Amino acid sequence: MGENEIYAAIGSAGLERLCAAFYRQVPNDELLGPMYPADDWAGAEQRLRDFLIYRFGGPQTYIAERGHPRLRGRHAPFAIDRERRDRWMLLMNRAIDEAELPGEVSATMREFFEHIATFLINQSDS
Ligand code: HEM
Repeated sequence: MGENEIYAAIGSAGLERLCAAFYRQVPNDELLGPMYPADDWAGAEQRLRDFLIYRFGGPQTYIAERGHPRLRGRHAPFAIDRERRDRWMLLMNRAIDEAELPGEVSATMREFFEHIATFLINQSDS
């Protein structure tokens, strides 16, 4: 399955389940939790959800509200090393399991996230 077919397969409800499952874990994670805005968890969840809706072939609300994603630039303020990248993937892979998406969708998503997460590393391991 192609990345741009995911939205048609699972709709916004599927991506909402995924992002909710991801952000249920982040605040309690000792590595990642402190990196996120403590007073805007709902906003962070919404930004990720809208980005994924757009990126997976759905409506372009993210672009209308945030402009070009520029993911590397937007992550530049956060120190992302291999350890944090791997932790992000661990939580996202758990969220994918929890959201009980069709097998093909899960497989395409895991590959997509692995790729971008590696691309966002901007620090060597400390
Ligand atoms: C590699 C580990 C990663 C870390 C540590 C990380 C961390 C963060 C943090 C701290 C924020 C700010 C939260 C907010 O206020 O929105 C953020 C935003 C965001 N992240 Fe990540 N992230 C990672 C990987 C990814 C990946 C793999 C994707 C997408 C495939 C992604 C997509 C986004 C998006 C769309 C935003 C909101 C950008 C905006 O519109 O401002 N992140 N990330």
